[in-house]
Amino acid sequence: MGISVDRLPGHVGIIMDGNGRWAEARGLDRSLGHEAGERALFDVVEGALEAGLRYLSVYAFSTENWSRPPSEVAFLLGFNRRLLRQRRDYMVERGVRMRRLGRRDPVPGDVLEEFDAAEEATRGNDRLALQVCFNYGGRAELEDAAARGSIPAHLYAPDLPDVDLLIRTSGEKRLSNFLLWQSAYAELYFTEMLWPDFSRAALFEALRDYAARRRRFGGLDEPGEGEPR
Ligand code: IPE
Ligand code: IPE
Ligand code: MG
Repeated sequence: MGISVDRLPGHVGIIMDGNGRWAEARGLDRSLGHEAGERALFDVVEGALEAGLRYLSVYAFSTENWSRPPSEVAFLLGFNRRLLRQRRDYMVERGVRMRRLGRRDPVPGDVLEEFDAAEEATRGNDRLALQVCFNYGGRAELEDAAARGSIPAHLYAPDLPDVDLLIRTSGEKRLSNFLLWQSAYAELYFTEMLWPDFSRAALFEALRDYAARRRRFGGLDEPGEGEPR
């Protein structure tokens, strides 16, 4: 991949968008687009392992996605439940620690059970931390945290570092309530590619783009080689 470790983002967030349009463009049901997105997700997980990323957070279902037609919501709940069960051993073997970020209510118990089982099974892993944002909303997270005291101490995963690189597929250029607190200084990367077409190669391209950027965090550039102070 050719990126030195010190130019890698510590935490990559991905808004996996465009499944529905991918399916509709093929005259298929939207549910088939979600299914096709599974391959992209696990190719990206492999790519993250290969690149040596430590934190990867993916947006799987937002607090606003309940407003979709009941049939699509039901499909997404069942699909994620199946996926978690089928991929649990894989995550254990690959050293992936999976955590769900989001409110529990009103996610059905059988879906929460699969999330809990996957969290439990992968708890001892430390190669890659994979946060699956499910029934997640940045505002809900901030409201929940503020209700309990200081915000950073009560986020869903207080140990989670800030997002360094935020990727969104499908050409939309918005945050849609994803990791609002953690993305305050994230570098944003947008691609027209629809999520089912995304891959580890596309991830590596985003990582290379990130590696060439200069971050300032409100300060001034560190003087580079050959540049005047
Ligand atoms: C992203 O794809 C997956 C979820 C939001 C669950 P979409 O379902 O939003 O696909 P588009 O944006 O309609 O194409
Ligand atoms: C964001 O995508 C949520 C997920 C990818 C899970 P949406 O498709 O729901 O976002 P909007 O509606 O285009 O903002
Ligand atoms: Mg969408």
